[in-house]
Amino acid sequence: MKKTIFLTVLATTLLSNQAFAGNIEAGKELVTKNNCNSCHGPDLKQPIAPGYPKIAGQHADYLFYALKAYQVENNPHVGRANAIMGGQAKQFTQAQLKDMAAYVASLPGDFVIKK
Ligand code: HEC
Repeated sequence: MKKTIFLTVLATTLLSNQAFAGNIEAGKELVTKNNCNSCHGPDLKQPIAPGYPKIAGQHADYLFYALKAYQVENNPHVGRANAIMGGQAKQFTQAQLKDMAAYVASLPGDFVIKK
């Protein structure tokens, strides 16, 4: 029962960002201050190691979900159990995650879709 309530609350939180309104300038400040580029690389698209994802230009809602999921511990159904990003993401409020997602999404990425 507790688990069901937890999952419902979490799903509602995760899915309730229909009006996605991150502030790009605030996000830039947070990303710069927290040295996200020390791992994700210059321009957030040249990561320092192959296991570290390129994040520039990904969709803002995806980035937000990912960051939010790193905050969730001990739930294999929703959480992303990653010690590195867990440590990074936990310090931020939901609004700050949205701001960072908006900023990262606004950067030119180099993703391509092969046809
Ligand atoms: C110490 C290195 C390090 C730092 C600093 C770091 N990250 Fe990460 N980040 C990673 C790694 C490693 C992963 C992949 C984790 C995994 O496998 O889930 C990742 C994954 C991500 C993802 C998911 C990308 C995807 O494609 O699913 C996002 C979004 C992200 N980081 C954003 C940030 C932001 C924003 C910051 C700054 C607040 C930050 N990261 C700081 C190492 C780092």
